[in-house]
Amino acid sequence: MKKHILAIDQGTTSSRAIVFDTKMDIVAAGQKEFEQHYPQSGWVEHDPEDIWGTVVWSVNEALNTARLKADDVAAIGITNQRETVVIWDRASGKPIYNAIVWQDRRGASLCRTLREEGFEPAFSQKTGLLLDPYFSGTKIAWLLDNVPGARERAERGELAAGTIDTFLIWRLTAGKVHATDATNASRTLIYNIVENRWDKELLDILGIPASLLPQVHDCAADYGLTDKSLFGVEIPILGVAGDQQAATIGQACFEPGMIKSTYGTGCFAVLNTGKEIVRSENRLLTTIAYRLDGETTYALEGSIFIAGAAVQWLRDGARMISKAADAGELAEQADPTQTIYFVPAFVGLGAPHWDADARGAIYGLTRNTGPAEFARATLESVAFQTRDLLDAMHKDWKSSGTNTVLRVDGGMVASDWTMQRLADILDAPVDRPRILETTALGAAWLAGSRSGLWPREKGFADSWALERRFQPIMENGVRLKAINGWRDAVKRTLSDPV
Ligand code: G3P
Repeated sequence: MKKHILAIDQGTTSSRAIVFDTKMDIVAAGQKEFEQHYPQSGWVEHDPEDIWGTVVWSVNEALNTARLKADDVAAIGITNQRETVVIWDRASGKPIYNAIVWQDRRGASLCRTLREEGFEPAFSQKTGLLLDPYFSGTKIAWLLDNVPGARERAERGELAAGTIDTFLIWRLTAGKVHATDATNASRTLIYNIVENRWDKELLDILGIPASLLPQVHDCAADYGLTDKSLFGVEIPILGVAGDQQAATIGQACFEPGMIKSTYGTGCFAVLNTGKEIVRSENRLLTTIAYRLDGETTYALEGSIFIAGAAVQWLRDGARMISKAADAGELAEQADPTQTIYFVPAFVGLGAPHWDADARGAIYGLTRNTGPAEFARATLESVAFQTRDLLDAMHKDWKSSGTNTVLRVDGGMVASDWTMQRLADILDAPVDRPRILETTALGAAWLAGSRSGLWPREKGFADSWALERRFQPIMENGVRLKAINGWRDAVKRTLSDPV
């Protein structure tokens, strides 16, 4: 019987598919990691065929594990790593180059030039973003300028561009649908979030032909049917949202003032600001939280590029732990008399610094410093960075006062030690929900509610359940000293120290 909802979560390091039942509970999942390519310092690429292959593999794996047939799936919701872009040939569906990943910094010099030419206010005003290579616009410009023949082919209308959701929709529908949703569009640096359309002036500045771009839909909408050749039946795609926005939905942050923070490769804190477009004076992003029934809900977002990726580095780069889950336990054994600060600026620093040229640094090493102190400093760096984001949010969103509760999710939140330290550094409660797969859940909700099988916002919000609340217990003086030490470490790490 067609009653299950399938969420595809295409992330930075792996693709996942999760099957949910009518009670919105997880039935089964499939997940596959894929290779990261670093062709030059600061460059990060994915092979789009790896992305596609691991998505199809994960869907089949999830269905097989659940002992379901594709025919049992009522609808698909897609969520994805945002900003990452692919350009492909409309006729063959073949990418013209690798996907340029959100972490990739190759657009830094173009951003600098545009800033010097005085274009930043126009971009910020219209897109809510800043001129940083993080966003898709300068990545598309790079592809058109550097892949032989790309610009001419784009001008002849032979190519299509898109974020990962768009690429997947194209492949899933065998090239019938070229579409994205408002949240993914809002991360491209060429989408006007006030007027809800691609912006002609910004496209001209970046030299991007409008013919490359997909149609922009609501998050819960008709995105076409999967081609029969893929899973044997046609399945409607009814929901799409960028992964951080999907997590905001999955955490049921539907009310203005609610905040979620997701700890995946990076960390992204999103504050729902309702129908109001709040302009940040503290270098946060203004972005689209979701668009439902033609109505846009906005958000303030703080983006940190390295969170879980720092733990990954501890495992794969520094080889101090054998699995990521060991970091919390190791941190607990750290010598309390050592004060070590680790600023994980591997790919520069995101909000609120936006320093593309900074690189990682560690301070306070002594002869006694070992893996335990590194682990503690790594996990604490995530808490300190979150604190910086929330401080900026409080300044921008004055009505939130001090009674913030943060809803958290993502791989890192399984560690009790890390969550307690987060509550201590924030001086605010941290809520860990029962379902930690909130990104997939958000995408599934979009498709499930659109199909009529799942409840609308209120019913869904009522089903959100708390697993544990972490209350701050750190003494105020200790906290302030730690935060000051962190801020000093960050200052010294900036490429142009202040
Ligand atoms: O903006 C980048 C973000 O969407 C990536 O998320 O979960 O792959 O770290 P994640």
